[in-house]
Amino acid sequence: MADSKSAKLLVEGKEIELPILSPTAGPDVLDIRKLYGQADVFTYDPGFTSTASCDSTITYIDGDKGELWYRGYPIEQLAAKSHYLEVCYLLLYGELPTEDQMKDFETRVTRHTMVHEQMHNFFRGFRRDAHPMATMVGVVGAMSAFYHDSTDISDPLQREIASVRLIAKLPTIAAMAYKYSIGQPFVYPRNDLDYAANFLHMCFAVPAEPYHVDPALARAMDRIFTLHADHEQNASTSTVRLAGSSGANPFACIAAGIACLWGPAHGGANQACLEMLREIGTVDRIPEYIAKAKDKNDPFRLMGFGHRVYKNFDPRAKVMKESADEVLDLLGVHNNPTLQVAKELERIALEDEYFVSKKLYPNVDFYSGIILEAMGFPTSMFTPIFALSRTVGWISQWKEMIGDPQNKIGRPRQLYVGADKRDYVDLGKR
Ligand code: CMC
Repeated sequence: MADSKSAKLLVEGKEIELPILSPTAGPDVLDIRKLYGQADVFTYDPGFTSTASCDSTITYIDGDKGELWYRGYPIEQLAAKSHYLEVCYLLLYGELPTEDQMKDFETRVTRHTMVHEQMHNFFRGFRRDAHPMATMVGVVGAMSAFYHDSTDISDPLQREIASVRLIAKLPTIAAMAYKYSIGQPFVYPRNDLDYAANFLHMCFAVPAEPYHVDPALARAMDRIFTLHADHEQNASTSTVRLAGSSGANPFACIAAGIACLWGPAHGGANQACLEMLREIGTVDRIPEYIAKAKDKNDPFRLMGFGHRVYKNFDPRAKVMKESADEVLDLLGVHNNPTLQVAKELERIALEDEYFVSKKLYPNVDFYSGIILEAMGFPTSMFTPIFALSRTVGWISQWKEMIGDPQNKIGRPRQLYVGADKRDYVDLGKR
């Protein structure tokens, strides 16, 4: 980052020089840190559409070219050649592991897959019909009550242990939330299975009979995890960073990230998308929904379409679409009505002037729901699966922030437009 370039800003006649920082890739960034001190003004940017909140070495997105890199490696290459735990290592430590490093990391994660036995009782306090995301927010937040020995954020070893615990236990917690919601017993992790196969086992095995994990489905699951592993400074990651900037422990920060991810504009879109496809029901009703999406007076949006950053295509969606075709072929799902609606909706929206002109393309959530449904997951599990995949991204970003000597508590300012100063009026006089 060189700061030899600068920009000049004229604020009510006063000239302010602002350094321009140049990133490895992407647009230059105007450094406004000293603006308030020099000119007594703030900047205004709701939704952070023009604001970089930190510097980071982890993930890069080029929204115009439709590119996504983890530590410099394009997502397409990682999805084709790597696997989720290797990607976790890459995100956490910055480089692809050697064979020994990989083996050691896999052992460390595998050895942490079980949760404290008393957590089983904690689960039992939830209503059976609780949404698995509600359960996950609670249980992950409660991890700080169960794992006191990894909450001291000033100790690098404790930060490391907390990171491994979170990556290892999130699939167990997500699977337990699911099992609890359908009234089946919890299934303990199996350390002879890989990360994705073990997750499928914990979700779909029952004690009454053996369960065989189909390796092709485990591979598809692994790819879903990989594609969701990190995504730069999105809403949930920024939430994790903001929570962490106050010095909160990592379990509390990740619980905050899960809460943010739940919303339908973010991770909740995969569930909302499948529900929308079911609501549309038949291909002949698609025009009605396209019209609703275009209607300015109707809040309806086509779920699974559009993205704040990608204005060309979502590279994750491209890989996910291929994966969806493979999984549906494998499972022999061809005439499913939801799938027919999805395919036709995708075709129409890609040709429709409204969607083309606004650069609204199917995003990752459009296809992931189709795969997950075919695998047998209920829609309520789609967002928990996103959350467990994203945990490594959150934790990598959190670690980067804690290790950054420039780290400060996040404290945005505001443009106050409320009442001017006024005197209190006694109750009887109002
Ligand atoms: N359907 C219909 N119109 C849309 C949609 C949509 N899905 N998305 C955006 N628009 C329109 C919007 O009405 C606006 O029109 P106008 O300029 O006439 O006011 C224009 O496109 C720009 O939209 P915006 O809300 O300013 O864009 P944003 O960057 O703030 O929102 C988004 C991005 C992802 C929240 C939005 O596209 C959306 O709500 N999509 C549906 C939900 C979804 O699929 N979310 C998953 C995102 S990918 C997974 C993740 O990273 O979490």
